[in-house]
Amino acid sequence: MYKIAVIPGDGTGPEVVNEGLKVLQAASKKFGFKYETKLFDFSGQRYLDTGKLVDDADVAELKKFNAIYLGAVGDPKVKPGIIETGVLLKLRFALDQYINLRPVKLYNSAYCPLKDKKPEDIDFVVVRENSEGLYKGMGEFRDKGSVSEVAIQISYNTRKGVERCIRYAFEYTRKRNKRKKLTLCGKTNVLTYAWDLWQRTFNEVAKEYPDVATDYAHVDATTMWFVKNPEWFDVIVTDNIFGDIITDLGAMIQGGMGIAAGGNINPEGVSMFEPIGGSAPKYTGKNVINPLAAICACSMMLENLGEAQAAKDIEDVVIKLVNKDLKSLAAGKMGYSTAEVGDLVVKNL
Ligand code: IPM
Ligand code: MN
Repeated sequence: MYKIAVIPGDGTGPEVVNEGLKVLQAASKKFGFKYETKLFDFSGQRYLDTGKLVDDADVAELKKFNAIYLGAVGDPKVKPGIIETGVLLKLRFALDQYINLRPVKLYNSAYCPLKDKKPEDIDFVVVRENSEGLYKGMGEFRDKGSVSEVAIQISYNTRKGVERCIRYAFEYTRKRNKRKKLTLCGKTNVLTYAWDLWQRTFNEVAKEYPDVATDYAHVDATTMWFVKNPEWFDVIVTDNIFGDIITDLGAMIQGGMGIAAGGNINPEGVSMFEPIGGSAPKYTGKNVINPLAAICACSMMLENLGEAQAAKDIEDVVIKLVNKDLKSLAAGKMGYSTAEVGDLVVKNL
């Protein structure tokens, strides 16, 4: 019996989570696994109504679950940063989900903005460090508000944090067993403390994985290759902020936010799966948002729970719909409503 915590969140989060839960139910019937869900109402609206974010008691309760399924957080009525740090980053940090796993896979070349790129050209995974770096929130103001104001934002990298991320990436590359190539994406030419530690750790750990080819690319060059030669990549490992930035570009070349999913992974604890597109306030309640990203997040969650066949079948259905049924992956242009796309996945499954 899998215990799944569900956080629909803000904006279109509840709509896409609904479709993901339909698919989860269909998968459980087909594959014979059992699960129960519990709803958690962390959201911008709850914050506005009660002032509550995620507290330590919430975290303690979430630790008892096998997985967390998240829609989206972010409400335009709340000042930027409050919900993001008080809910999303709080969960990632408190549950020590130190990996953010973001597959970039093109399912249909019609949805790729790059000329002449086919599904076999865009099929890589970004392993983003998810617990340190610039996201640690370290820094200070000096003389705030004055003409001599200084704002300092520190990138905090520990040997332990960097090593566990790099190790995960090597293991993942080996298990993925495609081109067996791991690229470190950094900025060794300028950020000479952080990336010295990353590069040294990468080189040391690499010795334990002679079967995995290694490569290095600066982050700026990485964005260039994503557009020019995405077929060069298999698995990429990088820090928190670079991973944040390059995976938005990754989402675009795989067909947009309607299809991009990710997992916040604690390999020894509770992991959390989410579509990476955000709460899309302007589409809220219209039944037009694409739920496939959330459905792909559900597939990643099942893979993580050990239901590999269910995960694969859901992905195969998504690939079929993206190639044969949907007119577009964009909100309002799919040729179907949000709920109809969810129903189509269920029917095909
Ligand atoms: C993401 C998002 C978050 C991040 C925001 C909402 C805090 O952009 O999941 O990529 O920066 O990590
Ligand atoms: Mn982001």
